[in-house]
Amino acid sequence: MRIALNRMTKKLLFLWLICIFFLSVFNVYAQDNKANELIDVGASIYLKGKTYSDQSFALIGKSSAEAPVKLFPCKNCHGMDGKGRKEGGIESPNITWRYLTKPYLFQLPTGRQRPSYTIETFKRVLLTGVDSAGQTLSHTMPRYKLTDYELESLLNFLQKIEVSVPTGIDEGNIWVGVNLSDNPKLKSMNQAMKMVLNAYFTDVNQSGGVYGRKVRLVFRDDTFFRNNPVFVILSLKMENYLARNKDQQSGFQYQESLPVIQLFGHSTDLRKRKNSFSLYSKIDSSKLSTEALIKFSKEKLGIPLKQMVFVTPDITENKLKAPELIGKWLDENLQSSTALFIEASDATVENLLDELNKKKTFPILLIQSSSKRLKTFNKLLKYPAPVFAAMPPVPEFADENGIEEYNKLTKQRKLSQHNFMAQLWTLTIAKVIHHALKEAGRKLQQEKLVKIIKTFYRFSTGYGPPITFSANRRIGAKGAAIVQLNPEIEINSITPVWISIDF
Ligand code: HEC
Repeated sequence: MRIALNRMTKKLLFLWLICIFFLSVFNVYAQDNKANELIDVGASIYLKGKTYSDQSFALIGKSSAEAPVKLFPCKNCHGMDGKGRKEGGIESPNITWRYLTKPYLFQLPTGRQRPSYTIETFKRVLLTGVDSAGQTLSHTMPRYKLTDYELESLLNFLQKIEVSVPTGIDEGNIWVGVNLSDNPKLKSMNQAMKMVLNAYFTDVNQSGGVYGRKVRLVFRDDTFFRNNPVFVILSLKMENYLARNKDQQSGFQYQESLPVIQLFGHSTDLRKRKNSFSLYSKIDSSKLSTEALIKFSKEKLGIPLKQMVFVTPDITENKLKAPELIGKWLDENLQSSTALFIEASDATVENLLDELNKKKTFPILLIQSSSKRLKTFNKLLKYPAPVFAAMPPVPEFADENGIEEYNKLTKQRKLSQHNFMAQLWTLTIAKVIHHALKEAGRKLQQEKLVKIIKTFYRFSTGYGPPITFSANRRIGAKGAAIVQLNPEIEINSITPVWISIDF
């Protein structure tokens, strides 16, 4: 076993976890290049009728009444994929650029014939309703007053739309998008995640792929979303990224059904998406870690609620504001208690620890990990009685097969095991997707893939707690790992232990 955890690595791991969870997120993101910008702008006009000038309108009917474009987005008639639709006796043609530029006299289903469009005739048909043959279109097709920038963007989008449709599957390939956060602080971690994902699916592909198809990973820094992902993997802190980039990432927006899976969730933004999944619950949610700690102390330490004293923000604000009050408060409250639950600022935690030291009273500590300072953690590590905290899954939850597979994978490809925790989490996602792809069978479809994921019941990945999804459950392993921060202090209860929480 190459990753066997001794105390030292445990401490390092823990410090690393702290770094991850308390990272502040920078407002930096890569700017897509010009062409991609036009496609995204075009997508937002096409799909949502968003305009980029307050002089832009849809002109409706023979009278050319001005109406907001957002009431008449192209998608309504020509479909999400631009391939046209027949509805209520109205036939809206295929307007993908490939169709508009067929190099011969093209006959539409309505009988109208026209030659190939050029950039000029395309703009003209939108502005005036006169097609490439000089014929006036029916007034079902609105005319549009759009700027040249908007017209260019639409054109760029229609050139791309066929490859943007989220099918993600062709005869020989399955495209899986990977959107890693662009937070510079996560760079080395993202690199590590990227390496194991590549290694995992290279192995899959070299041993025949999935029903003969190769799994292709498309990273956002390459050509994200424009290569038909069938599924998207998101790295840490993606929810912030998505919130910031609502408009820029119209790629993500216009494929609203595009399924996504991320490590920790569920942020509101993702919850709104139809097909979004998270492996684990967000551990920095205080509700989750509090419940996990209380359940742990009751079930594993045998300490009932009534023997616990709580230091929570309302108490700290009212009663423990001044350090000198802490000693008094402890005297009054700690008498018959065996455990102290702490959810407080670093300063209060440190004051509490100092007071307990002075009194030479050392209850078991259950700490809600909202701390940001290493100094505080170092003090906790030196505390003479057991200290427990709630964590995301740690390597101990990997089983022998998982560890063996991980070591083989990293050894064969000479990958660094730096950031191994993030790598194990990432491999869990890879396993989930790989398993779903296999189960979905030869006639793979995006919807089928999602359906299968929703049937995962205690799916064992080898890398962490088992994963369960359903129509109503989008977090694979709801709960927290309870870890003893100072394992050298003996206690009957062995950690880490996975505490499941079902809200
Ligand atoms: C209310 C429905 C509707 C909306 C909204 C709509 N169209 Fe159309 N469009 C049509 C119909 C119907 C036709 C066919 C008219 C005809 O054949 O006389 C058409 C024709 C076209 C054509 C000509 C195709 C050809 O082969 O000659 C283009 C190009 C086009 N639409 C682009 C767009 C774009 C771009 C948008 C959005 C900015 C849009 N349409 C919005 C219904 C619509």
